[in-house]
Amino acid sequence: MADRKFDVIVVGGGPGGYCAGIGAGREKLNTALIEKERIGGTCLNRGCIPSKALLASAHLYHHALEAAKMGITVGEVGFDIAQIHKRKAEIVDQNVTGVEHILKLKKVEVIPGTARLLPGKRVEVTHSDGQTEVIGADNLILAFGSEVARIPIPGLDGEGVWTSDDALAYEGIPESITIIGAGAIGLEFTDYFRTMGSQVTIIEMLDRALPIADPDISKELTRSLKKVKVPVHTSATVTKVDRVDGKLVVTFRKGDKEETVASEVVLVAAGRRPATRGVGLEEAGIAMERGAILVDDHMRTNVPGVYAIGDALGAGGMMLAHSAFKEAEVAVDNILGHDRVMDYSAIPSVVYTSPEVAWVGLTEPQAAERGPVRTGQYMFRANGRALAEGYWDGFAKTVADAETGRILGVHMIGGNSSELIAGAGVAVSLGMTAEEYVTKVTHPHPTMSEVLFEAIADSWGLAVHKP
Ligand code: NAI
Repeated sequence: MADRKFDVIVVGGGPGGYCAGIGAGREKLNTALIEKERIGGTCLNRGCIPSKALLASAHLYHHALEAAKMGITVGEVGFDIAQIHKRKAEIVDQNVTGVEHILKLKKVEVIPGTARLLPGKRVEVTHSDGQTEVIGADNLILAFGSEVARIPIPGLDGEGVWTSDDALAYEGIPESITIIGAGAIGLEFTDYFRTMGSQVTIIEMLDRALPIADPDISKELTRSLKKVKVPVHTSATVTKVDRVDGKLVVTFRKGDKEETVASEVVLVAAGRRPATRGVGLEEAGIAMERGAILVDDHMRTNVPGVYAIGDALGAGGMMLAHSAFKEAEVAVDNILGHDRVMDYSAIPSVVYTSPEVAWVGLTEPQAAERGPVRTGQYMFRANGRALAEGYWDGFAKTVADAETGRILGVHMIGGNSSELIAGAGVAVSLGMTAEEYVTKVTHPHPTMSEVLFEAIADSWGLAVHKP
């Protein structure tokens, strides 16, 4: 029996969960959302948003240091780390409060507490005072999110070994930092700490930095890291971490060679895993695989009326806030009786480094596995606006089907790529060909978006500003 009954219960208030709550509330479904911490989940509280706030401060610091190049004289340039973190906290608060307000407007009942699933689409909620209540619903949307994946390496615990949560909270700049993992988290913190003055070293298990990106992007990214003197050790297996003379010494193997790097702190950025332990999934009969909830393309679990979205799907989803937004919409639409499937083919990825990295669709090797491809490329340094703004580095690359010209993927590294990629997302999701894009779409001049335009045009031999 349940103490109270809803149309929809959403478990978890991160981007997936709050978006599902807002969507269900908007459709006048009687909706509850259970959250044990603050609304906003990892993204708003400990991920995307606070990290962008820190990076924005770091980038302004960098621009101030470089101002003389653009003819601007500034006084002594420095930073106030307490103010940087205060601003970060204010941005998070504003964002969280905004989402809470929208949930309220949509009449979603936010229930603070820890949820545990019970059979029969019921949830036991334990409140902070220890009281419990059992609520039930016709539909559940599970959005448990993810947690930092721990890697079993001796010495990787104790003081000085950080997760991204520690790195975001640390009100200081370590003199040196070793980052394990050259994925999005490792690279964004590399950018922040390096810009603020740390000596950063990266150790990556696979054979290139950002191994999920197109290989040409990894190559350019590695070049840019080299330029700012960040050593990147690839194909490197970390074997242990020791504490020697107040420093952390990371030992790693590259082939048959053993190397070490000593630093003040070590950041483990080796991935995240679904936060699905101890939440009653087994008891509720929900099918899982290696800790991730299994769903079909309608976001349905094996139990009728129970949906799952977001990072709790692990590699089955994309572990990105914006894919969780889409999954939430799909789940709510299906609850409403529509027949909507989730399409992952045009979900952009962005890494907020400088230069920024962004892509959508297939990499060249992925596309080549399906059939012959044509590629196009255009450099930022060939674009007038990029030159004027000081964004010389990087390029855009298009991967198109060699027979039809259909744009299968667009990959960018360079100024403003995070914003520019949205345009490429439209082209990929609509299945446009390069020729259609060039004939139908006009980009404003002079803008850096023309780098994207020319790269698409180049894949079909139609680039204009290219010799
Ligand atoms: P990730 O899976 O993107 O990258 C982890 C990297 O660590 C991989 O390159 C992997 O090969 C490497 N690695 C794993 N074990 C290792 C070991 N023992 N030694 C050396 N290297 C090792 O995970 P990351 O960067 O921790 O991010 C977690 C999740 O959060 C990802 O799904 C990511 O997409 C998401 N995220 C997204 C951001 C964005 O979109 N800008 C920013 C931050 C996180």
